[in-house]
Amino acid sequence: MKKHQHRQETKAVHGRADLSKKNGPLATPIYQTSTFEVTDNDQQLRATHTDMFYTRYGNPTNTVAEAAIAELESADAALLFASGMAAITTSILALVKTGEHIVAQRDIYGGTTKFLSQWLPKLGVETTFVDTVEYEQHARAIRPNTKLLYLESPTNPTLKVVDLRRVSTLAKQHNLISMIDSTFATPINQRPVEFGIDLVMHSGTKYLGGHSDLISGIIAGRRDLIQTIHESRTTLGSCMDPHAAFLLLRGIKTLAVRVQRQNENALRVAEFLAGHRRVRRVYYPFVERHPQRTLAMEQMSGGGGVLSFEVDGSGDDARHLAEALHLFTLAPSLGGVDSLVSIPVLTSHAMISPEQRQKMGITEQLIRLSVGIENADDLISDLEQALTVTSTARQHAQVG
Ligand SMILES: Cc1ncc(COP(=O)(O)O)c(C=O)c1O
Repeated sequence: MKKHQHRQETKAVHGRADLSKKNGPLATPIYQTSTFEVTDNDQQLRATHTDMFYTRYGNPTNTVAEAAIAELESADAALLFASGMAAITTSILALVKTGEHIVAQRDIYGGTTKFLSQWLPKLGVETTFVDTVEYEQHARAIRPNTKLLYLESPTNPTLKVVDLRRVSTLAKQHNLISMIDSTFATPINQRPVEFGIDLVMHSGTKYLGGHSDLISGIIAGRRDLIQTIHESRTTLGSCMDPHAAFLLLRGIKTLAVRVQRQNENALRVAEFLAGHRRVRRVYYPFVERHPQRTLAMEQMSGGGGVLSFEVDGSGDDARHLAEALHLFTLAPSLGGVDSLVSIPVLTSHAMISPEQRQKMGITEQLIRLSVGIENADDLISDLEQALTVTSTARQHAQVG
């Protein structure tokens, strides 16, 4: 049976490893070494471009994890980084130069907004932010010097869904590189390469690792672009440690089952919140009445484990509610097996201006949940008791 016929659950366990290999260790060994011995200088020259020269250039443990992710994303190749932000910054620095321009969607991770709006201008690279699902605005923002179209879907934290085919077509028409942060979706729920997107980025810290015990980043996509980014990774030194790569690989083996459970749990929680009188608004693309539900269901096989909601009350009500939860731990981050709660104005989007947050619809009342793999009824009971701490009540929540 050819490998490419395998489904995502199988790919998550087997990666791109050679299935006919015999007598090797089942688990990938950790090559916990910074350097590799060579027999002579000629061999050293040949080794320079391999993953057995110097770990800043590459490492065999990392290669196995990179191959597994490339397989899951239907991509030519993938690269690991020390963090999601390292993947984003190293890739963008590799792809654009002084005088060039980026078009980026407004609803993206706060750290990325900061990099694009506060750091890249120092290097003479300007970014125009456009409304995420206003595609005419994207087209109007493109200039002769535009090089990159940067997107995220579903978005953090309001879970907007981007029409991937439409955006990739626009990028191709204008000869732009398209790059997506697909962290929330995971390759189980969405494979942007299949919609024509050139580069797919993940904070591997989240679902791919899956246990809130490592920091990592990934870029997968077109081989020529991956080669260019690899050179930058070597120069900037944003590589991942092989021990963390081992943990990431172990996490990936259970990715499909974790994400399937998180899809189910998050949908149950979203439906509960959408019917609760102390909730003003719920953001989850697979919930009934969500304006982008049809698009979401066309491009994603599940809504993912993250959802957000606005408490019908004050910012203080939102804080009290987050602190009153027992099963949702108050902590930044998402994507692990444990359920987490956070308030975006205090965490993921604390580093950007109130004006930028307002344009993204991020209010003080907004609470983000990362739903884990616990029992959904237990999670709902926990939310039910915590919602009693808020002061007001209404009939129905708005969705999306
Ligand atoms: C959607 C998204 N992209 C990127 C990042 C950055 O990833 P990291 O924290 O691994 O650098 C995060 C972190 O929260 C995120 O949520």
